[in-house]
Amino acid sequence: MVSCRSLSIFCTSMSLNTKKLSVIKFTKDFLLASRLLQLFQPFNKFFGFMYNFNLLTSWVHKHKNEKLLMNDFYNPKRNYDNRFNSFSAIIEAYKLNDTPICYLEFGVSGGSSFRWWLKNCTNKASRFFGFDTFEGLPEDWGHFAKGAMQAGIPEVNDDRVKFIKGIFQDSLNGFLDENSALIKNTRKVIHMDADLFTATLFALSQLYPYLNKGDIIMFDEFNVYNHEFMAYRLFTECFYIKLRPISAQNNFYHAAFIVE
Ligand SMILES: C[S@@+](CC[C@H](N)C(=O)[O-])C[C@H]1O[C@@H](n2cnc3c(N)ncnc32)[C@H](O)[C@@H]1O
Repeated sequence: MVSCRSLSIFCTSMSLNTKKLSVIKFTKDFLLASRLLQLFQPFNKFFGFMYNFNLLTSWVHKHKNEKLLMNDFYNPKRNYDNRFNSFSAIIEAYKLNDTPICYLEFGVSGGSSFRWWLKNCTNKASRFFGFDTFEGLPEDWGHFAKGAMQAGIPEVNDDRVKFIKGIFQDSLNGFLDENSALIKNTRKVIHMDADLFTATLFALSQLYPYLNKGDIIMFDEFNVYNHEFMAYRLFTECFYIKLRPISAQNNFYHAAFIVE
């Protein structure tokens, strides 16, 4: 039996909550109508930096001591080529030469990383797909202007390869429809190297229905707080997907994950 006293405590707390809610609603509506917070607009970039960089810092410190194939955190000297050591460790640990893989690279440019994977994954049944505008970045990225990193489609002499030209937002869905059985049923190694938040989040979201446990997703610029890291964070939060870190280089600038 609910006593009169508990009933009265319940009613009082309900009415306090209702009052609190009305104050919150009133304040939000007032701020919206008055535009008061726009006084702080010149500091938006700074607040955005603080918010996103703090999320990145928390993420790195949460994962820095995990047992990874490679992890050089903290290393005061970055060496971009260290990513190749990480790639080798991944191929060996997950025996990516023993069974066919489907390698999907988003952001190919001149093909440096693409060629590396092609050379080092020798299984004849593996397939390699490279997506790029091949006309450079579709929007500015930090100090790189729209159009930077422009390079023609790489010339490679290997039947296992196909390049898909265009922005991912136009080209990816048609590709996935046409190749759905292959993409669904083969272990995927996905290399996100488009640098941009927009491109990375778009590609990950479209690939989501095709992901299987054991697929590998690598980010070439993972610790860029307002681009690949933000795309990773929103993707994992919105799709409730668990990506476990398996390797990192250059203070998590390059980071690789496995789908769980
Ligand atoms: C850093 S480069 C790739 C570098 C390459 N993976 C390597 O290791 O040499 C980034 C590439 O992403 C491509 N890119 C970025 N956003 C894109 C989008 N939405 N659609 C297609 N290509 C995109 C750019 O054209 C650029 O060539």
